[in-house]
Amino acid sequence: MTVAVRRLRPDDGRTDFRSGNIDLNRFFARYAGQNQFRHHIGTTYVAVDGSAILGFATVAASELTCTMLAPAARKRLPAYPLPVLRLARLAVDQRATGQGVGQLLLRTVFALAHKMADEMGCVGVVVDAKPEAAGFYRKLGFIELEARAGALGDRPQPQPLFIELGAVPK
Ligand SMILES: CC(C)(COP(=O)(O)OP(=O)(O)OC[C@H]1O[C@@H](n2cnc3c(N)ncnc32)[C@H](O)[C@@H]1OP(=O)(O)O)[C@@H](O)C(=O)NCCC(=O)NCCS
Repeated sequence: MTVAVRRLRPDDGRTDFRSGNIDLNRFFARYAGQNQFRHHIGTTYVAVDGSAILGFATVAASELTCTMLAPAARKRLPAYPLPVLRLARLAVDQRATGQGVGQLLLRTVFALAHKMADEMGCVGVVVDAKPEAAGFYRKLGFIELEARAGALGDRPQPQPLFIELGAVPK
């Protein structure tokens, strides 16, 4: 398997993608293209083996306040909103999981965070992790953000995770 990562193209076929998460499959099929090419609210990177799409990661510029950070980082950073790169969606096709595709996409996101830091400012990467995927992110160095106050639902809530730029591998 020779896997490359590149930006989504308008003519990429997105309807055959099947991760274990139906919402992520639907997002990829219906919204990833228009969000990137028409509305410019997020850019999707795809891991491809030839014409087969093995996984995708969608990112967008975002911000967080330093009150959400661990006390040590809070002391170093100003109290106004801080620029971050948000990993908005990540999924790997079930036929390709467990082969490093997710990690490869994360490395692309990490490289983008460094590029964003150089060109416009970025203090790290945030993700609202699904509980079943939190271990995947922790393995790569993400730590918990202070959870925002919100309504408690019956479903497991996403876990906000963060990795500081200094800990993001180059
Ligand atoms: C989570 C997901 C993206 C992982 O992708 P993947 O390509 O299978 O992951 P990789 O093969 O790159 O795994 C990298 C490492 O993370 C570990 N890992 C993978 N999924 C994990 C999980 N859910 N929990 C804990 N560790 C996990 C792997 O064992 C591997 O460890 P190793 O380096 O010690 O061998 C993929 O399983 C997926 O698409 N899941 C459904 C959608 C989803 O939950 N997306 C995340 C939304 S927040």
